[in-house]
Amino acid sequence: MRKVLVPGTFDPITLGHLDVIRRSSQMFDVVVVGVAASKNKGAGPLFSLEERVALAREATSELDNVEVTSFDNLLVDFATSIGVAAIVKGLRATTDFEYEFQMAMLNYRLKPALETLFVMSSPDYMYVSSSIAKELASLGGDTTGIVPACVQEALRNKLGSR
Ligand code: PNS
Repeated sequence: MRKVLVPGTFDPITLGHLDVIRRSSQMFDVVVVGVAASKNKGAGPLFSLEERVALAREATSELDNVEVTSFDNLLVDFATSIGVAAIVKGLRATTDFEYEFQMAMLNYRLKPALETLFVMSSPDYMYVSSSIAKELASLGGDTTGIVPACVQEALRNKLGSR
């Protein structure tokens, strides 16, 4: 069985993430969306780990071979514990490349048997990020086309945007 892991902070999940997850679900038998606790990322996530998992579950509910779970340990250890042979990450532009390259090299050093695969972002979502969605929502902007409907509502509730 070909099983892969799509990891991320997903704070919150965007249509760009969903595009990578959906395309992975067409190429592999099982896709595990791994929501990282990422407690030390920046000022800390806006959404709690439970909220990020719930939103990712709702957003992927129509994809039968996708499951969502959280983790708070090293990515390579989590990947090993759930038995995946590869990590899949989305790449939007050269700005993503340096960070992703560094992570892929580190993960290779930690566990050479674990492959890192990259899916190029679709042109529709090249500019989409969780940060942009949060900033837009916090200023009352419309996040249609950037995040799924369930996340639009969650952002409205959290940030009081339209
Ligand atoms: O969506 P993000 O924030 O770019 O995802 C980054 C993520 C969660 C994939 C990365 O930070 C990660 O792998 N976190 C788990 C802990 C880990 O293994 N870190 C790398 C070695 S220090």
